[in-house]
Amino acid sequence: MHAKSRDEIAAAYASPPWWYDVRGFFILTFAYNSTLTRQLRFFGPNFGPRHLEVACGTGTLLELVLRWRRWKHLPQVHIVAVDYAESMLAGAERRFAGNPNVELRHADVAALPYPDGSFDTANIANAVHCFPDVDGALKDILRVLKPGGTVAANVLLYPRTIWPFKSIAEWIDRWGMRKGILVTPYRRDDIRGAIVRAGFVVASETVFGNCYEVIASKARPTAVSP
Ligand SMILES: C[S@@+](CC[C@H](N)C(=O)[O-])C[C@H]1O[C@@H](n2cnc3c(N)ncnc32)[C@H](O)[C@@H]1O
Repeated sequence: MHAKSRDEIAAAYASPPWWYDVRGFFILTFAYNSTLTRQLRFFGPNFGPRHLEVACGTGTLLELVLRWRRWKHLPQVHIVAVDYAESMLAGAERRFAGNPNVELRHADVAALPYPDGSFDTANIANAVHCFPDVDGALKDILRVLKPGGTVAANVLLYPRTIWPFKSIAEWIDRWGMRKGILVTPYRRDDIRGAIVRAGFVVASETVFGNCYEVIASKARPTAVSP
């Protein structure tokens, strides 16, 4: 089977936003073997004053993360959220209509329409394994981050849990790949290698359920002594 292009992936996401959200809950539980609470705690703290939300989908998770931040009395920030699938963005546009802190844009993560050093932070929630060009995506996210900026990402791994959970996760992954909403799960070392090759410095990492959760930063330039 050939690797899907970004347009084929966008077409695969052309389902009604409500169905995408219901389906997402099952995928989170049975393929990722993760929970919403865990995702809120993982992504919630990684918001600088100017934040890039990569592959925001319909914005369901982003909205919940912003509620979590309000509940924790964390500061309001300016968010730019991008996605390549127009049907997903349409859902996000309805969701954030009237919220001046969230700016939405149709963009490919591997060709972000922003100058170098535009953002303090970036989150890639549930999406690295959906990118057809993961190296291009990681490089461009690094480029648009400010030195010292951080990216938080969770990446779907090949199922590692015990039977029957492993078989269920494998079945969902195969279905996702056939449908085109999943490019591939990863081995932890392979995706970690890609993150480091792109130029990031890994700051913290964990494997939980079938997910690799990583926070990585863009190095600050070292001062050259005269
Ligand atoms: C599983 S969804 C995750 C959405 C959201 N972050 C969440 O957690 O609910 C993956 C998203 O990645 C987007 N995507 C895939 N390839 C992309 C690309 N090259 N550029 C931008 N978005 C992309 C898809 O359109 C889809 O909305």
